[in-house]
Amino acid sequence: MSSVDCPSVLPIPDSKKERCEKLKAAFITKYGHPPTFIARASGRVNLIGEHIDYHGYSVLPMAIEQDILAAVSTNDEGKLKLANTNPGYKDFESSSKESPIDKNNPSWEKYFLCGMRGVVEHLGLEEVKGMSCVLDGLIPSCAGLSSSSALVCCAALCTMHANAQRLSKTELSDLCASCERYIGTEGGGMDQAICFLAKPGIAKLIDFKPLKTTDIKLPEGAVFVISNSCVQMNKAATTHFNARVVEGRLACQLIAKGNGLAWRDMKRLKDLQVTLGVKLSDMPEVVKAAIHPEPYTKDELCGILGVSAEELAQTSLSANTSEMQNFNLYDRAMHVYQEAERVYQFKETCENSPSNVMEGLGQLMSDSHRSCRDLYQCSCPELDDLVETCLKAGAYGSRLTGAGWGGCAVSLVPTNQVQAFLSQVTAEFYNKDERRASQIKESLFATAPGGGAALYCL
Ligand code: GLA
Repeated sequence: MSSVDCPSVLPIPDSKKERCEKLKAAFITKYGHPPTFIARASGRVNLIGEHIDYHGYSVLPMAIEQDILAAVSTNDEGKLKLANTNPGYKDFESSSKESPIDKNNPSWEKYFLCGMRGVVEHLGLEEVKGMSCVLDGLIPSCAGLSSSSALVCCAALCTMHANAQRLSKTELSDLCASCERYIGTEGGGMDQAICFLAKPGIAKLIDFKPLKTTDIKLPEGAVFVISNSCVQMNKAATTHFNARVVEGRLACQLIAKGNGLAWRDMKRLKDLQVTLGVKLSDMPEVVKAAIHPEPYTKDELCGILGVSAEELAQTSLSANTSEMQNFNLYDRAMHVYQEAERVYQFKETCENSPSNVMEGLGQLMSDSHRSCRDLYQCSCPELDDLVETCLKAGAYGSRLTGAGWGGCAVSLVPTNQVQAFLSQVTAEFYNKDERRASQIKESLFATAPGGGAALYCL
C-alpha cells in the first residue's frame, strides 16, 4: 500500500464554511453529537472524449464546483448509518461488514456501499469501523455530471479515513472505478480519476492503464457553460450503457478474430489497435474492412466467432445485456476511434493556441456531439434541441457530456458573451416549458475547473 499523495486533510475553505456549519448542525440533530470529519467529492464535466474510457482511450474532463459532502463520525455499534439532507433520499442502516448490493435496485445508498466495499476489499480490512454519516449533495442527479461516481468516491474517502488508513489518489481512483461496477454498470475510470486528481483552474487529459494525468490549460477568454436538458437518465437502471460497452467489445473481438488474434481476451478497442500495431487515425479503415454497417444478429455473431449463444454470453455479454439480439458494431467502433482522435486534437489545439483556437475547439466539440447522436446513439431529442439552441445563442461548440440519453450539454462560450448566451438559452429552452423553467437555477450555469476530493478536519 502506498501512503504518498493521499487526498489532503484541509481546514474547511471559506467558500464552504456556511454549508459545512449547516451540515454539522444536521448531523448533531440526527445523531446527538458532532461529526469528526467531513469528506468532499466533486462532480465533473467531460469536455471531450465520450464513451471511450472503457475502451482504454484518454479523455479530457474537469472537476466542477458542485460536490457531495459527507459529515462523519465512527460509531461503536459496527453499523453504517446514512442520512441525507435531501429528504428524497431515505435513511439507511446496515452492518458495516455486511452490505449486499442489489443491482436491480440502484438506490442512492448502493453507491455508498460500493465505495465502502471497494476500500474494505482493497485493504483486506477484517475489522471495519462503524460510521454515522449525513450527506449533502449539490451535483444534479442523473444529469451526466457524475453524481453517482462522486458518491462512490466520497464513500471510499470516508471509509479510508474512518479506519485510519492512507491510500494514494491513484489507488483510490482505480479502486473506485472497479468497485462502482458492483452496481452493474461497466463504466471506465474517468469520473473517479478526475474526482481524485483534479486541480483548481486546470482541465486534465486522463490516460488509463497506467493512470496518468496531464494538465491542460484552457484558452483565455473561454468559458464552459453547463445546461441540463432536464431529462434524467440513471445509467444503472437501464441497459443502454452496458449495451454500448458490449457492442464495442464485440466489434473488437470480431476484428481480432478476422486478424487471427486471440479474440476472447480482446475486450477494449485500444488493446486491439495496439495489438494490430496500427495508427489510431487508420483504425476507421480497419473497421470498414472488417465489419459491415448493418447491425449483426446474435446468430450471425455466434457463427463468425464459432461459439454457442451461451459461450457468447460468457465471453462478451454482461448480466443485463444477455438478452440482446441485435448489435450495431460498425457505428459504435467508428465513434470510439474517431472520438479518441478528437481528444488528442483538442489537447493539441489548447497547447498550440492558434489564433482561431476557440473555433477549433468548438468544431471538435460539435463533431463529438454529432458522433454521439448519430453513431453512438446516446443522445435524445431534448438534448439535441438544447445543443442546437446553445449553438444558435453564440456557442463556438456544444455537446452532450457524460453518459448521455438525457442530462447535460457543455458549451464553449466567449467570456464577453456569456450573459447574452445565458439569456438566450433561458428564453428559448427553459422558459418555453414550465417544468424546465422551475429548475433553471441548478440547470444553467457557467463553470470553471474546480479542485478534487478532500477531507476537512473539524
Ligand atoms: C459514465 C461513466 C464514464 C464514461 C462516461 C461516458 O459517466 O461512468 O466512465 O464512460 O459515462 O463517457
